[in-house]
Amino acid sequence: MTGPTPRRTLVTGADTDLGRAFVRRLHAAGDELVLAGGERAALEVLADELSALSGSRPEVLPGDLADELDLDLVVRRLLTGTRPIDLLVVGPTPPSTRALPEADVAEVRAALDRSAGAVLALLRAALPGMISRRHPGPGGAITVTGPAGFLPVPGPAGLDGAAQAYIAMLTEALAHTFSRDGLALTTVCPTPPHVEKERWRLAGAMPLHVAPPDADAVAAAALADHAAGRALCVPGVGPRALVGVSRLVPFPAVRVAAGLRRGSLPQALRGRRGPRGARPAGIALVTGGSSGIGATYAEHLASAGHDLVLVARDAIRLEEVADRLRAQAVRVDVLVADLATAAGRAKVAERVAAAERPIDLLVNNAGFATAGEFVDTDPAALRANYEVNMAAVLELTAAALPGMVARGRGDIVNISSVAGFLPGRGSVYSAGKSYVTALSRTLALTLVDTGVRVMALCPGYTRTEFHARLGQERSGPEWLWMDADEVVAEGMADLEAGKAVSVPGAVYKTIVGVTRVMPRALLRALAARSASGRG
Ligand SMILES: NC(=O)c1ccc[n+]([C@@H]2O[C@H](COP(=O)([O-])OP(=O)(O)OC[C@H]3O[C@@H](n4cnc5c(N)ncnc54)[C@H](OP(=O)(O)O)[C@@H]3O)[C@@H](O)[C@H]2O)c1
Repeated sequence: MTGPTPRRTLVTGADTDLGRAFVRRLHAAGDELVLAGGERAALEVLADELSALSGSRPEVLPGDLADELDLDLVVRRLLTGTRPIDLLVVGPTPPSTRALPEADVAEVRAALDRSAGAVLALLRAALPGMISRRHPGPGGAITVTGPAGFLPVPGPAGLDGAAQAYIAMLTEALAHTFSRDGLALTTVCPTPPHVEKERWRLAGAMPLHVAPPDADAVAAAALADHAAGRALCVPGVGPRALVGVSRLVPFPAVRVAAGLRRGSLPQALRGRRGPRGARPAGIALVTGGSSGIGATYAEHLASAGHDLVLVARDAIRLEEVADRLRAQAVRVDVLVADLATAAGRAKVAERVAAAERPIDLLVNNAGFATAGEFVDTDPAALRANYEVNMAAVLELTAAALPGMVARGRGDIVNISSVAGFLPGRGSVYSAGKSYVTALSRTLALTLVDTGVRVMALCPGYTRTEFHARLGQERSGPEWLWMDADEVVAEGMADLEAGKAVSVPGAVYKTIVGVTRVMPRALLRALAARSASGRG
């Protein structure tokens, strides 16, 4: 008689402490394992250990998930039909050691790909097969986030935290969607030392001196919560309190806490906002300047006397906007580029970093959403969304900062969205915008005293071409809809007021306020209803 087929589980980051802890527990539970990770030697040692215990040697897939070919190897293993994977554990990735502006574009981009980019590609590859197969044991996925994904901190940990915010949001949203298919998705938030206790302390972000659970306890808690169908697992009472409370903490309070590490209370209180006031007219670069919020931003800046560089794919529409603005006696250059491509981003990054006619204000506005469910959306479309909505924002910001910091002034406005506060069915879009907001917050903390401001502008429904491009009618009551003019005017005023996050409109300020206090599960259910099927 043959017993039930063992669950087959693929673990990435199996060469890290936490990855190994997952592997050992899953092996003890009888899972058949595939080990992936950056260090081949460490994977082989672990595979030897397991084969000595049970006589069967796990498959080993060494490779760096930031490398397209290595990632593709793991993606193909997940897609393979003959030995299908029932559970995917996307383990931790190496922590960043340098923050912006010291780190270069390639370095920060690789870190984003290794974490957020890999989670996106691996979940998209794994979930459809799991849904159609339905292994009787708890199948689905476990991802790893960290406390900086919930509470912004300055420095390298904050940069990793922005990617973790994405991972947590994506996993939570998909957990809600796929619970109806019998799949469980859980994101586990291990606290230091698994996320570098020392580095956190250096960042001034270790508010609770609690003894964190060890790697094995984290893996045990994650597997138990996954089996119970819980979307978010925070092992330990203290860490759970920290993550729970973190949503309630207003960002100015985070700024004051970070300021206390550097100076006196009066100084820290003064630092609850960034530098205030209007900047003299200079040169602004606006991505997605051919329509909607970007074109409107450009109009407002031109009226204030700024010269402009407008970026988008459609050369004719860009020239039309540019011609209109030139009538206001400002210089307007156009840069035709597709930000979904490496060549397009490099072309714009080169202009952003140029010392001649330097850019004083960068508006990272270009963005779009994909229609349809996550598992039905073409992986290439999801990847393009990641490139434009997230990677381009990071790369252009990384290109702009060294010059701005050296000059002691400059502004970066990242167009995010209220959707970034809502872990709903528009999973990829919401998660991407939560990344943009988290990135802006950590940079606002990191760049304190440099004279450079970074702000996330988070509009709600705005009358632009955004929804028509998705093939969607405008939904919801009229009072939910704002004009791009109102959004931009409020955003510009908030930047001058030194805010790190701007949410235009009283309605959306209220909605964002409510998301902070609402239980996560209820928030997921409500957000799923309002996302109208965006992938
Ligand atoms: N409208 C809303 O309800 C709303 C709400 C919250 C946040 N937002 C955000 O606001 C930003 C602007 O959107 P919108 O509402 O103004 O939409 P929109 O009218 O559709 O404008 C999008 C802009 O992005 C550009 N773009 C898209 N893909 C690009 C690519 N691959 N490379 C270069 N440029 C690209 C488009 O130009 P080309 O097509 O010529 O390239 C266009 O200029 C987005 O980040 C969006 O997520 C919108």
